Amino acid sequence: MDHFLYRDGQLMAEDVAIAEIAAQVGTPFYVYSSATLLRHFQLFDDALNGLDHLICFAVKSLSNVAVLKLLGDAGAGMDVVSGGEYLRAKAAGVSGDRIVFSGIGKTHEEMRLALEGGIRQFNVESEPEMQVLSDVAVSLGKIAPITVRVNPDVDAKTHAKISTGKKEDKFGIPIIRAREVYAMAAKLPGLKVIGIDVHIGSQLTELEPFRLAYRKVAELTEQLRSDGHKISRLDLGGGLGIPYARDNNAPPLPIEYGALIKEEVGHLGCEIEIEPGRLISGNAGLLVSKVIYVKSGEGREFLIVDAAMNDLIRPAMYDAWHDIVPVIEPAAGADQTPYDVVGPICESGDTFAKGRMLPVLQSEALVGFRSSGAYGAVMSSEYNSRPLIPEVLVNGGQFAVIRQRPTFEDMINRDSIPEWM
Ligand code: LLP
Repeated sequence: MDHFLYRDGQLMAEDVAIAEIAAQVGTPFYVYSSATLLRHFQLFDDALNGLDHLICFAVKSLSNVAVLKLLGDAGAGMDVVSGGEYLRAKAAGVSGDRIVFSGIGKTHEEMRLALEGGIRQFNVESEPEMQVLSDVAVSLGKIAPITVRVNPDVDAKTHAKISTGKKEDKFGIPIIRAREVYAMAAKLPGLKVIGIDVHIGSQLTELEPFRLAYRKVAELTEQLRSDGHKISRLDLGGGLGIPYARDNNAPPLPIEYGALIKEEVGHLGCEIEIEPGRLISGNAGLLVSKVIYVKSGEGREFLIVDAAMNDLIRPAMYDAWHDIVPVIEPAAGADQTPYDVVGPICESGDTFAKGRMLPVLQSEALVGFRSSGAYGAVMSSEYNSRPLIPEVLVNGGQFAVIRQRPTFEDMINRDSIPEWM
């Protein structure tokens, strides 16, 4: 459920008309609903009620500092995967003891940054990383709390590019080698082993892969405890999927996911962390764009809009479906016609949808790409020298620009011409 609904013939973001935002900030832009973000965070928090837990929002899905502050103030922790994300979480006022550092390639500098600024735990993904983290911690006179991310060799049954828990994926340590790796970690002077981490992929639409993975983690917890390790925390990753198309079979709900967690690992007495991104931010965001031209091709109509693959790359990269909705509500029973919805970028991959049934639209019409809060703005680029687009946050009847649209000068002035020229 989200807060982008029609009222009096106008698409709203909560109590603000999308058309009004467009008139003020220009198109294209991203708009996020505070109410939806908070509601989705709360669903997870409620689902784990009864367990000692922390919901660590996956910053990679939507990293605007205002959004992080909204969630952080509501009690969320943060899951970060780079020094930049760590600093964003800090800038949002989240204390280090609520920030988890994930990722397979943490550098010395990132480790130092987090150890000095405070960190809840590092989720370590390899033996060399473990060694370096221990060295960095010792050099700073600190002890780094760690979990080891294990790769449970479970098929998440999701898009190949976002599946992470099979043995051929680059993530984690094979679960069959976990005991020897924990033995090594226990000997390193700069580390303190506190738990186990797992994350098997993103946009999972079934619970069964989670169950298989969490069951393996539960078994491993018992084994590691019998080896003498104190396992007091389980980080179960993110990945619960969202409905992208409204006619889709809806993925399981957070409450069902929470029940599964309780069944599989609830008896272990561990503190539970999860790292959801998409389910919190995905349906909380809309990419708003304007039709530039309607062009007739051979046997097809192209709707050329002012957003492009540089602004929302998911259709080009994962063949992802995003519902497209007109900002003016079509009359009930209005005629629909198939459009190829494309951006202005000079490659055919810059296509949002093919043969999409939409009401008849003219140039200047506004459209929204739904479910684009997660992995939308964060994956955007300036390809074709198109400046990054603004982000707007709505809260009830008010809205604010939370990232300005850069001017062309801002964009061009980041380049510099060498003196010898
Ligand atoms: N934790 C870790 C360690 C992750 O790698 C990810 C996502 C998450 C949590 C959050 O997963 P979520 O709950 O959002 O599914 N760009 C792709 C998705 C990449 C996901 C990467 N890792 C897309 O647009 O579909």
